[in-house]
Amino acid sequence: MYKTFYSLKRNPFEITPDPSFLFATRRHNEALAALYYGVRRHKGFVVLTGEVGTGKTLLLRCLLQLLKQSDDVKYAYVFNGRLSPLEFLQYIAGDLGLPAAGKNKSELLLQLAGYVVARGEKKLTTVLVVDEAHHLSTDILEEIRLLTNLETADEKLLQILLVGQPELDEKLDSVELRQLKQRIALRSHLLALDLNETKGYIERRLQLAGSPNPSSLFPQETVAAIHRHARGIPRLINTICENALIAAYARQAASVAPDIIEGIAKDFRLGVHTVPVETGKMPDELDYRKAARTLLELYTRLQGEQAREEELAARVPVRLTEQ
Ligand SMILES: Nc1ncnc2c1ncn2[C@@H]1O[C@H](COP(=O)(O)OP(=O)(O)OP(=O)(O)O)[C@@H](O)[C@H]1O
Ligand SMILES: [Mg+2]
Repeated sequence: MYKTFYSLKRNPFEITPDPSFLFATRRHNEALAALYYGVRRHKGFVVLTGEVGTGKTLLLRCLLQLLKQSDDVKYAYVFNGRLSPLEFLQYIAGDLGLPAAGKNKSELLLQLAGYVVARGEKKLTTVLVVDEAHHLSTDILEEIRLLTNLETADEKLLQILLVGQPELDEKLDSVELRQLKQRIALRSHLLALDLNETKGYIERRLQLAGSPNPSSLFPQETVAAIHRHARGIPRLINTICENALIAAYARQAASVAPDIIEGIAKDFRLGVHTVPVETGKMPDELDYRKAARTLLELYTRLQGEQAREEELAARVPVRLTEQ
C-alpha cells in the first residue's frame, strides 16, 4: 500500500534473503570471498558464523549463485540442521542426484565417497553446504569429519562449508570435536553493521526498490534511531524500516520521522543498548540475543511470516526414518 505513495517498484525491506539486495559491507565481502576462495582452491573445510539475522543465509545464496555459473561445480545444499545422520546423508545423496532409497548409512557414505573421488579425478569440484549448522548433532559432525578425510596428497576432494550461529563455534570448541576443529581451513564471522553501514544499507535497499529519493525518505536522525534499536542487525533493520514506512504512510508523510522509530521500538519492546561495533561484542550478549529473538517472534506472529518453515518443509518432502 505504501509502495505507490513512495514511488517504490517493490518492497525494499523483505526479510527473505534475496541476493539481488546484497549490500556488500567490508565484512560481508570478505566472508563471501573466503567462502568462494575456499571452494575454488579446494581448501576443504570452511566455517562462517554470525549472530541471528546478520546475513549468513544471504551470503550463502550469493555464493551458490556464483557457483551455479561454473559447470565444474556440483553442490548439495542442506539448510536444515535438525536431521538425523541417515536423513542428512540421504538428503545429500538426493541433492547430488545419487540414488538414496533403501540405502543404510554406510552404503550412503560409501556411495558419496566414490562419487566425490571420481569427480576429483576429473578435476571437478564437489561441495557440501550446510546452513543452520549450529543445530547439527555431534553424530552428524562426526560423519562430516569422516568426509573431510577424502583427500589427495595436495588437496581436499570434498569442499565443506558450515554456516551457523555462534553456538556452532561453541560446538566446534568442544573436546569431542577437536579433531574436526583442527581441519578448519578458513573461518569468518559476520558482525552487526555500524552506523554508516546501516545508512548505506537502508539507502541501497530503497534504491534497489526504485525509490527516487533514498536519502531523504529516511533522514540521518531516523537512521541513527533505527541503528540504535536494531543494534545494526540487518534483519531487525528490515523489520523496523518496513513498519516505519507503513506508519509514515498512515501519516501521509514525505519522510520517516525519528519518533516513528521510537514508537515501533516500544511496540516491539526493543531495549536500547549501545553496541561497540568495532569488536562486534554486545555489552550484554544474552540480553541482546533475547531481544533479537523476541522481535523475530513478534514479527513472525504479526506478519504471519512462515516462509522459512514452508521452505524447509518443501525441501524435505518425505519424513525419513532412521534404519
Ligand atoms: N549485507 C546485506 N545486504 C543486504 N541484505 C542483507 C545483508 N545482510 C543481511 N541482509 C538481510 O537481512 C535479513 C537476514 O539475513 P539472513 O537471513 O541471511 O540472516 P542469517 O544470518 O542467516 O540469520 P539466521 O541466523 O536467523 O539464520 C535478510 O532479509 C537479508 O536479506
Ligand atoms: Mg540463516
